[in-house]
Amino acid sequence: MNTLALETKRLTLRRMQVADCERMVQYLGDFEVSSKLARVPHPYPPEHAREILSKQDKIAAQGILAFTIDDGTGLVGGINARPFEDGHYVGYWLGKPYWGKGYMSEALAAVLHHLFVTLSTPKVRSTVFLENAASAGLLSKFGYELLGQSEDPCAARGGRIFPVRVFELSRERYLYIMQNAEGQEEVRL
Ligand SMILES: CC(C)(COP(=O)(O)OP(=O)(O)OC[C@H]1O[C@@H](n2cnc3c(N)ncnc32)[C@H](O)[C@@H]1OP(=O)(O)O)[C@@H](O)C(=O)NCCC(=O)NCCS
Repeated sequence: MNTLALETKRLTLRRMQVADCERMVQYLGDFEVSSKLARVPHPYPPEHAREILSKQDKIAAQGILAFTIDDGTGLVGGINARPFEDGHYVGYWLGKPYWGKGYMSEALAAVLHHLFVTLSTPKVRSTVFLENAASAGLLSKFGYELLGQSEDPCAARGGRIFPVRVFELSRERYLYIMQNAEGQEEVRL
């Protein structure tokens, strides 16, 4: 059983629990959240959350790191890292009430540190629907570079295909940025 947990200043990134299902259904049920993600249907069926919960061991066995983001009151979002041939894809979301508080900057900083420093993954990649300025801004803040454009389906928008920007951050660049960011709170977090 995967019990890995990461701590940040305000958040705990931990394994999903039964009690998370209710808030997950509530927050992922918001089209403003699900329409930014590739695989989350709208309306969001409660069975979907329970199915993800039941698959936690299977997910971990595939090398996927899947975290509930908890602010001390319970689930506020999720972040995961899925291996691909020479790195990890990172995906993330927060319930709308928690946007704009710097939470994902904290959560992503912890996950990137784990991936690059603990696991020495060579690169991380994220795909962002073209109109998602918040997510693109978040990645740029961490030094991700634009690799190019591609297309992804969006389950919440009927499975239709939309353009995405592909962002990538190499381990070398991450370590260089961290080394040169000593004392800069906004990057170190
Ligand atoms: C994208 C998302 C995770 C951002 O989380 P957040 O906690 O609100 O982000 P933060 O407060 O840590 O902001 C980090 C940076 O993102 C950028 N950003 C955040 N909100 C923004 C907005 N509305 N417009 C433009 N840039 C924005 C800024 O660069 C910000 O850094 P700064 O505050 O230091 O300037 C959140 O909006 C979300 O869950 N959206 C719905 C799901 C989603 O889009 N997931 C990602 C799919 S690729």
